[in-house]
Amino acid sequence: METQAASDAHAAGFAVAVGERSRASIAAVLFDVDGVIADTARLHTEAWARLAALERLPFDRETAEALRGLSREDSLRRVLGARRVTQQSFHDMLDRKNAFYLELLEAAGPADCLPGAVGLLGEFAELGMRRAAVSLSRNAGRVLERLGIFERFDVIVDGTAQTGGSGLDRYHRAAALLGVAPRRCLVFEDSAAGIATAKNAGMRTIGLGDPRRLAAADMVFESLRGVSARCVLRWLGGSAATGEEPPAPGGCRIVAGHV
Ligand code: BG6
Ligand code: MG
Repeated sequence: METQAASDAHAAGFAVAVGERSRASIAAVLFDVDGVIADTARLHTEAWARLAALERLPFDRETAEALRGLSREDSLRRVLGARRVTQQSFHDMLDRKNAFYLELLEAAGPADCLPGAVGLLGEFAELGMRRAAVSLSRNAGRVLERLGIFERFDVIVDGTAQTGGSGLDRYHRAAALLGVAPRRCLVFEDSAAGIATAKNAGMRTIGLGDPRRLAAADMVFESLRGVSARCVLRWLGGSAATGEEPPAPGGCRIVAGHV
């Protein structure tokens, strides 16, 4: 049976324009994990900082920020900079960083869900949206378990998913598993790299964090705190459909955005 919220959503005609021409209603929401629903970006940073200190490698705030959304291997290349190491040593460092990260993760629990994330997931569920967690991290499943929100997703695509053979990126793969066309997917991401991947997959994007980093996103919020599903969908659909300034969405803190 359709819930009141779902019937409100349909009555409000939450149609989200995709590009200039076609229109498609959003049927699925895809959430990145680290830095979007889980306060784990700081744990990755701390683990890299520990490794860098032991290896006497420089590690500052700018480097830490640049690692957001990079794979474990690419992160290490960035941390190493010009230093050359053997393959054995490279793999050894990857393992040590991951061990530091897992040690830090042991202390994580439901309180480490980022503000607004769980409420927003619940709201999308009420609206009848399919939900996926999509992450580059091979530890994403474990993170969701520790935070107690594993069961809130229909599909979880993490860094262990074999996407190579199919040629699909992680967002396309999640959409395929959900059975929803990419143009009907809305992605929440905190990294520029993740926004680029989602856009290349033909999906709508919401960036979370610094608008300078996330300029390519359709809309950017400082965080999920105070963000409501209805407000996001109405704002995307309203402005795209009419070409007018979007109405001030109650409860949303819009930092930057263009639709
Ligand atoms: C991303 C993080 O989600 O996952 C990156 O933003 C991290 O910081 C990447 O490097 C891979 O994570 P893991 O847990 O497999 O090392
Ligand atoms: Mg992230």
